Amino acid sequence: MNDRSNIWIELNMVQSWYTSKTNRFFQKDDLLEPFDYERLKTDLKDSLYGQHIASEVVLKAVSGFMTDKHPSKPLVLSFHGGTGVGKNHVSNIIARSIYKKGENSEHVHVFISEHHFPHKGQLETYKTQLKQWIHGNVSSFPRSMFIFDEMDKMNSGLIDVIKPFLDYYPKLDGVSYRKAIFTFLSNAGGNVINQVVLDSWMDGEEREQLQMNSRDMETNIFKDVFNAKSSGFWHSSLIGDHLIDHFIPFLPLEYRHVRQCVLAQMAALNITANDGLADRVARDMPYFPPEEKIFSVKGCKSVRQKLLLHI
Ligand SMILES: Nc1ncnc2c1ncn2[C@@H]1O[C@H](COP(=O)(O)OP(=O)(O)OP(=O)(O)O)[C@@H](O)[C@H]1O
Ligand SMILES: [Mg+2]
Repeated sequence: MNDRSNIWIELNMVQSWYTSKTNRFFQKDDLLEPFDYERLKTDLKDSLYGQHIASEVVLKAVSGFMTDKHPSKPLVLSFHGGTGVGKNHVSNIIARSIYKKGENSEHVHVFISEHHFPHKGQLETYKTQLKQWIHGNVSSFPRSMFIFDEMDKMNSGLIDVIKPFLDYYPKLDGVSYRKAIFTFLSNAGGNVINQVVLDSWMDGEEREQLQMNSRDMETNIFKDVFNAKSSGFWHSSLIGDHLIDHFIPFLPLEYRHVRQCVLAQMAALNITANDGLADRVARDMPYFPPEEKIFSVKGCKSVRQKLLLHI
């Protein structure tokens, strides 16, 4: 495993260097999309369900950044929420607003903590490789996107490596990182978010009225992430140094949102829309709290698999 992940990173580094060099000569297969505010807005509206806060913040943050000719730092977004509520999904929506090949672009780099950096003993190697990887890719393609998944499981030493890239420096070792985008995904803060949404539901409030500062949500996410022992964040100074531009809460999904996910999967599988089937599949998912059964335990995760069981 050890060797395999090292080889993976090295092979990918070689491949990335090669493709970025060849791209300089043949700038044709992976060009940037001209940024289009309306297109991103429509994509978020049509394919993201139940996440009005994330939708609004992402739209403003990404469009502001993409249309800024001289950003003072890279865009740094931190997504928080329970499982299956759309954190990777939104990263992909952002990617397809920027790159012609969307999430499959070679300029989108995904790191999953436990997959790419599994061995504590290899930390020094990972640190060197990660630094070279970010440096190498941004120097050949400034508009690169880095997605760090399972950020709460990321070793703090690796977070310290990423930190300088997120800062306001005009250049670092001759390279400007100001056009790059970093997204950090984690479940940290998920329980706080779920509690806020549940309390608000219990009080009979409209979900759509919840805002980032409602019921001290932002402060409490911040505290939770900062204090959680398992979270690599607490040990680092990413938060303390204000390098994260936006903390974005992802709310737990309700039955109606899961149902929308089922209908979207039907369309993706070329199955004719069928309300009865959508209800059956959505009903087949677990919900919490145990009595009220309001929010989906797994969000929209495994909806596709459930759907396949029902057809
Ligand atoms: N809010 C949503 N709107 C539309 N589709 C969604 C939403 N949330 C999840 N999905 C669907 O469910 C799948 C799984 O969601 P995703 O991988 O984005 O979850 P996640 O928040 O990253 O969860 P985890 O914390 O477990 O990694 C997505 O690929 C997407 O198809
Ligand atoms: Mg995820």
